[in-house]
Order: sequence, then C-alpha cells, then structure tokens
Amino acid sequence: MTYTPFDLTEKVALVTGGNRGIGYGMAEALAASNANVAVWGRKDAANKEAVDKLSKLGTGEVKAWSVDVSDETSVVDAMKATTDAFGRVDSCFANAGVGFGASSFADMDTETWRKNMSVNLDGAFWTLREAVKHITERAKNGDPGGSLVGVASLAAIEGAARNQAYAATKGGLISMLKGIAVETARYGIRANAILPGWIATDMTEGAQGQEVFEKKVISRVPARRWGEPKDFGGVAVYLASDASSYHSGDTFVVDGGYAIF
Ligand SMILES: NC(=O)c1ccc[n+]([C@@H]2O[C@H](COP(=O)([O-])OP(=O)(O)OC[C@H]3O[C@@H](n4cnc5c(N)ncnc54)[C@H](OP(=O)(O)O)[C@@H]3O)[C@@H](O)[C@H]2O)c1
Repeated sequence: MTYTPFDLTEKVALVTGGNRGIGYGMAEALAASNANVAVWGRKDAANKEAVDKLSKLGTGEVKAWSVDVSDETSVVDAMKATTDAFGRVDSCFANAGVGFGASSFADMDTETWRKNMSVNLDGAFWTLREAVKHITERAKNGDPGGSLVGVASLAAIEGAARNQAYAATKGGLISMLKGIAVETARYGIRANAILPGWIATDMTEGAQGQEVFEKKVISRVPARRWGEPKDFGGVAVYLASDASSYHSGDTFVVDGGYAIF
C-alpha cells in the first residue's frame, strides 16, 4: 500500500499573504503537491509574479485576488470570488501579517496598536469567519472536512519587548483558533496555529545581517541559521491534507529549536 495523503489533487488551499515570504513558502509546497491555490495579497504585481511561478509547479490551478484583509468588505467579496472560481475552499491559511513595534511599551501609540490589530487580528478574524461559513455550510450539505490555519508567532508565547501590540494579535489569533477548533470539530473541521521563529523575509529585513541581532539572537537558534519561507512547506501540506484530519487546536512551533533553548 502506498500512503498518498500528501498529494493534494482536487483540494483547494487559500493563502492570505501568499505572494511572498512565509505565505509564498507555504503556497509553493501546496502547489507542488497538486493543490489548487488561491493567493490573496494587496499588491497586483507581487500577486501576478506568484501566480506565474506557482502555476508551473503542480497540476492544480493557481489564481490570485487583490485583497486588503484589514477591510471587511474586501475579505467577504474575495471569499465569494474564490469559492465561485474554485467551487470550494478546503484549507485556509490566515497568514497575512504586519509587525509594528515601538521604542518602548510606554511610548507605544494607539496608531501602532491599531495597525497591528487591523491586519493581524481583524483581518484573520474576517478571513477565518468567512472560511468557516463556507466550510460548515458545505459540511451541513454532506461534504465534511476542512482546515483552518493561522500564522501566529513565537511572540505570542515569549515576552516580546517593544512589540506588545504585535504579540497581543498573535496570542489572540491562537485563542481564536482554539475556539474555532472546538466549535467546528463536529463537522470534521480542524483549526491550528503555526508559530514561526526568526524567518528571513521582508518583515525581518532590518534585523538580517545586523551585527548585534545576529550575535545575540540568531547565534542562539539551535539550528544555527535563519528560518526560510520554504521551511513552512511541510507543515502547510500536512495541515491541508487528510493526514491531519484528527489534529486540531494545536500550535506548531517552527523555529529551529529557538523556543526550547
Ligand atoms: N518573518 C518572521 O520572522 C515571522 C515570525 C513570526 C511570525 N511571522 C508571521 O508570518 C506571517 C507572514 O510574515 P512574513 O515574514 O512572510 O512577512 P512578509 O514577507 O512581510 O509578507 C507579508 C505578506 O502579507 C501580505 N499582507 C500584508 N498586509 C496585508 C493586508 N492588509 N492584506 C492582505 N495581505 C497583506 C503581503 O502582501 P501585500 O504586501 O501584497 O499585501 C505579504 O504577502 C505574518 O503573519 C507574520 O506576523 C513572521
């Protein structure tokens, strides 16, 4: 017998922020596993580039939508457009995120708080809510199963000095997913969070190569390197596949061992 759940043929995976960074790393593995992939991001040029590259990888179709997840109407419309185009969404990766910090918690202004909240928490809420609506409706019509995933952060579980607003969004996201996991399990749906450590993307560009940061932080990563977007391909394929059917409410720490050292 051959074990084949990681072939995602006929499944539809939606990745917000899938045009670059960690989202692209996940989309790449999903497409290469033959899933149909929907990419959401704000920038048309980045979306187009991602579709061009992802389309060459597997047998599934890849499409992108220009979506600002911090806008409720944009999310609602995009979920409808995505399900209309593909007929369904089986897995939804709420990955789009921003990271705004401050020089100290005392100096953190309300605008910084709101900027983190609007994308990381409001955006994830609307994305996951619309996905849950679609997937549960399908389940009630006799087609159960589905996977909700939120890309949180180690910041949710470690003290993130000067980044409390960002950390709060990620802690909130994990809590939201656990509630979704309990509420939707009866429909064969699972909900999990991925917690990346230090990953080399545009978000961490300022820290990459910076002497103090490399010496004090990256040297303490047991894997002795920055994480890369492609390090998230395996967990994405697992969570999109039927192999994870009974795995719910969990947090997947992908950090090269940083959190346990
Ligand atoms: N890099 C790390 O070390 C690290 C660590 C822990 C957690 N994370 C989390 O991992 C996720 C991905 O981060 P990354 O490092 O890959 O960041 P990134 O390289 O900056 O990419 C961010 C992605 O999100 C999209 N995005 C941002 N704001 C959006 C909005 N309002 N609406 C729709 N899409 C939006 C961007 O596309 P457009 O610009 O085209 O909209 C882009 O595709 C984030 O949730 C982040 O918090 C990252």
